[in-house]
Parts: sequence; C-alpha cells; structure tokens
Amino acid sequence: MMSVRHFLSFMDCTSDELLQLIHRAIELKELRNRGVIHEPLKSRVLGMIFEKASTRTRLSFEAGMIQLGGQAIFLSPRDTQLGRGEPVDDCARVMSRMLDGVMIRTFAHSTLTTFAANSKVPVINGLSDDLHPCQLLADMQTFFEHRGNIQGKVVAWIGDGNNMCNSYIEAAEQLDFTLRVACPKGFEPNATFLARAGDRVQVVRDPREAVAGAHLVSTDVWTSMGQEDEAKLRLETFKDYQVTRELLDQAANDVLFMHCLPAHRGEEISHDLLEDPRAVVWDEAENRLHAQKALMEFLIPHATSA
Ligand code: CP
Ligand code: NVA
Repeated sequence: MMSVRHFLSFMDCTSDELLQLIHRAIELKELRNRGVIHEPLKSRVLGMIFEKASTRTRLSFEAGMIQLGGQAIFLSPRDTQLGRGEPVDDCARVMSRMLDGVMIRTFAHSTLTTFAANSKVPVINGLSDDLHPCQLLADMQTFFEHRGNIQGKVVAWIGDGNNMCNSYIEAAEQLDFTLRVACPKGFEPNATFLARAGDRVQVVRDPREAVAGAHLVSTDVWTSMGQEDEAKLRLETFKDYQVTRELLDQAANDVLFMHCLPAHRGEEISHDLLEDPRAVVWDEAENRLHAQKALMEFLIPHATSA
C-alpha cells in the first residue's frame, strides 16, 4: 500500500511532477482537438464518491476516463453503505480491491486521508472542506496556456479563505509564485497552510491592495457547500469583496481572471465580469478534463494483456 501514489493535495507531488502534469494536460488537449484516440487506461475503472453536488468534477472525471479507454462509476452515499455508516476504512479496503482508482468529493479532509491509508489504489481529492487540488491543476494549466510559466508572478485571491484559497497557497509554494489573499477578518485561510507558506503568501484586508499589479486574480463563492446556514451572514460580511472590471483595472495590464465556478453574479463577481476579455473561466472549466486526464494517466497503472 505504501507504494501507491495519491493526489489529496498539491503536496503529494513534487514541483517537477506538477509541471509535467500541466504540460501533459496541454498535450492531451491538443491530441483531443486533433481527434487522436489515446486509450492507455483501457479496462481500468475509476470509482467516484460524491458526498457533495458537482457538475464539472463529475463530468470531467467521467468523460476523462472514457476518453482514456476506461470507465467511471458514480457512487452516491445515498445508494451505498458508506451513507449508512459503513466505516470509511472498510469501504476503502473493499472498493480498492475492485477499482483501479477512486475519486472522492467529501466534507472532512480526514475522510480522504483515512480512505487513502486503507486503499490499494490511487485516491484523488475531488474537493474537501480543506482543499481542491484538481481545480488548481486546471487553473495552472490555463495560466500556462495563456501566459507561460507562473513562477515569479503575483496572484490575488479575493474573498473567502476557503478550500480553493488553501489550494492556491499550496500552488504558490510548489510553483513559486506570490499570493496575496484579501479577506475579511475571521475568514482567513487555514493557519497551518499560511504558516508553512511563510512570506510567499500575504493576507490583507483591502482587495485593491491584493490586486495591485497582479497577473492573475481569482475568487470563489462566499458560501461553500456545507456552509449554507451561514449564507446570510456571509453575504453581508463579504459585500466589499466583489470582483469587478474596475477592480481588475488595478491589476497588471495582462491580468487573467479565474473562478472555479459555479459563479454567483452580483455576489462575488459583478454581473458583467465573465464577459470581460480578461476572464478565462470557460477555458479553466474545460481544462478540468485535460488536467485530470493527465493526472489519471500518471497515477493509474496502465492495463497489460494476458
Ligand atoms: N469547480 C468545480 O469543482 O465545479 P463542480 O462543483 O461543478 O464540480
Ligand atoms: N469553495 C466551493 C468550491 C466549489 C467548486 C465549495 O467548496 O463549495
């Protein structure tokens, strides 16, 4: 079990491996655009456990597996024993004897680490309360495609210090860029992540300060899945953190804007922002497919004939 590679966080790969994944994702995108069939995962099966809703993650993993020659099985906690209290470690032991990889979208990050510790096959984090590393692979691929290497650049994160923000912190460490986080008091990213990142990540209150001269600006919903009870309070607390065209004007001339989606126009972004030429959110969403295909090709052992 020790030799199995998982992808629960950007820290599960070296910087070089992450760069390889990003470049491979760009290659796989070109192959697909040229109509080339590439099926290294023929007869391989990915299990996908979703404890939270999803459009992009489900579709990109499922379509990605099919395009790589394999299959994906959607597992809802409503219909599996996991949802009726079967221990996560038992589920991991059983599922990993039948599958070649498991993707999990869950609440507590410990569900992922427990599953991975008991799994014979690679486990991929499809979002937890702490991290969303697959989204960061796609975001980084999108930056590399539009602007080249992100090393030495300045990235501004505006809004909630949430799972996406934590993953941006890890990306800053691994890919060597500066991250400025603008968030209201009490909504800072996880202190452990901040402490490990050191000077590379700065937390400020004023979005304009974070965005000044930035090469990439990113934001996310103010209320993440699982925080629905706090929605009203959050709407009030974050009202000065909306990303607008005027805010982007404070950034570098060649700034890109990203949002992992789904977006709430009129809340974290202005109504017109996704129509702005600086917004690359549709490429970013598409790149979930290519980035995760690169990831699965890297993690899941290829099939051999008898
Ligand atoms: N960005 C993202 O993970 O989208 P879904 O919630 O639709 O999967
Ligand atoms: N921070 C959001 C991301 C959704 C893709 C959430 O966790 O709901």
